[in-house]
Amino acid sequence: PIVKVAFGLTDLEENIRKAFNLTQVIIVPGDSDQSSFTKKELGRAGAAALRKYVGKDDIIAVTGGSTMAQIANNLAISSKMKGSLFVPARGGLGESVDMQANTIASTMAKKTGGKYRMLHVPDHLGEEAYQSLIQDSQIREVVEAVRSCRIVVHGIGDAMVMARRRKVDAETTRSLQNDGALAEAFGYYFDRQGNVVHKMPTVGLRLEDLQRVEVVIGVAGGKSKGEAIASVLRYGQEDVLVIDEAAAIEVMEHV
Ligand code: G3H
Repeated sequence: PIVKVAFGLTDLEENIRKAFNLTQVIIVPGDSDQSSFTKKELGRAGAAALRKYVGKDDIIAVTGGSTMAQIANNLAISSKMKGSLFVPARGGLGESVDMQANTIASTMAKKTGGKYRMLHVPDHLGEEAYQSLIQDSQIREVVEAVRSCRIVVHGIGDAMVMARRRKVDAETTRSLQNDGALAEAFGYYFDRQGNVVHKMPTVGLRLEDLQRVEVVIGVAGGKSKGEAIASVLRYGQEDVLVIDEAAAIEVMEHV
């Protein structure tokens, strides 16, 4: 613990950046599990990171969640972003409307003066329904835009917290537990080593798309998410990480 205290936030940022080979790490003070102010700060820092990395007429794919909603709150009209197209990274994942990726994408577009497209995909799609849905020309068009995005901004959640929140069925929840799922991001579940152990059946961004996405920005906070964040970092596709101090300390425990 003495070592932790001795490290300033800048050192912590640099240690995490090096440990996971990231472009940039931004840490805000505090613990979003404990303080709504810290969560808001995380949103502000996430919005600043997006403003920093966005280019002209970019396609920006975003996920859902309460942290992403805070980022949306902190965006404002910007000449840099007025040509941006905001799209949801993936279709239905069982979130409540205010936290859905569609909602976040539209809010971000309205706040910045950019454009948005939505993916209208119902939750819990069966294989047959999925196959017919991806034939639809409008859905196809949006999915193509999503998969050709230059920037992804996403939240990271604890696997079991997310499974509960999205009302994942008992059988899937059991298999997530058996497979050692610790983290969830974009509807994918990751174990401690950063292996993908489960994917939610929906359309949109695929994990393999992340390899050609130029800037992947992960935003998450709270001590309880530290281990989950480390799992997603181990998967190895993040470029920019925006976290809070409590999560950062936990991440370093799981390097
Ligand atoms: O994929 C993870 C979730 O989007 C995280 O949601 O920001 O509400 O914890 P949250």
